[in-house]
Amino acid sequence: MTEIRPVTEAKAVKVPHLPDAQTVTEVKHWTDRLFSFRCTRPASLRFRSGEFVMIGLMGDPDPKTGKQKPLLRAYSIASPSWDEELEFYSIKVQDGPLTSKLQHIQVGDEVILRPKPVGTLVHDALLPGHRLWFFATGTGFAPFASLLREPQTYQDYDEVIITHTCREVGELQYGRELIESLKTDELLNELIGEGFWKKIKYYPTTTREESPKMGRITDLMRSGEAFEDLGVPPLTKECDRAMVCGNLAFNLEIKQMLEDYGLVEGANSSPQHYVVEKAFLD
Ligand code: A2P
Repeated sequence: MTEIRPVTEAKAVKVPHLPDAQTVTEVKHWTDRLFSFRCTRPASLRFRSGEFVMIGLMGDPDPKTGKQKPLLRAYSIASPSWDEELEFYSIKVQDGPLTSKLQHIQVGDEVILRPKPVGTLVHDALLPGHRLWFFATGTGFAPFASLLREPQTYQDYDEVIITHTCREVGELQYGRELIESLKTDELLNELIGEGFWKKIKYYPTTTREESPKMGRITDLMRSGEAFEDLGVPPLTKECDRAMVCGNLAFNLEIKQMLEDYGLVEGANSSPQHYVVEKAFLD
């Protein structure tokens, strides 16, 4: 005779044991320093493309009490707001409290995700403009991976320029593949129209390994080379809007440059010409 397991019992097997747990559905390692992963999305989670959430794992047990506390860090959501799943792009720091562990996650594992999205890299924080610049270094590409897949980006702007400065060529691969994938993105093609991706100008540069375009984006802008390569004039507050996400030194330097072009920093409560967010570092 076949045993019929009660539905409640079958469900109980699937109940996650971590608080705010989500299940990993895909992991990709891009270099020995970078990886991305996808996980399930809480049904209640609503966010604006470009925002971040706190994610993490349970920390090691306290040697005295044996209790475990969640180890959480801010991570930009790299997937767009309409995606059924969530995607994250992360650095691997070998002695980093979280990423030394997170880099080993596999499909089926659980991650903790606090469903409270926040952030300034959102369309609402910018005044209308003609050209939108995304300035990224390293894993700072993540929020732009979300915004590049967001229809509003192309509805609001005539031109979108994404600059990505990394140390080595391999570190550009995640961004390069994402931009390539936009050409066949069904939703964007349907909503924005065929050839929408021709609005995008991609400007990848490396600083520590030979590539077709070498140098920090800040230096390339200061010398005028970046504008010449891209075929656009230097930024003005009338025409250009910018979102910045990278390491601290980069953020500070480009922030000053944007101010020198006459752009003013915006926020959710006060939209202006540019916004900045620090890329996650363990
Ligand atoms: P560099 O190799 O010259 O330091 P990181 O991996 O350390 O976060 O750096 C990512 C990229 O950001 C690197 O290519 C690095 O260049 C670049 N970078 C670091 N600081 C600045 C800055 N102040 N302005 C522009 N690019 C920077």
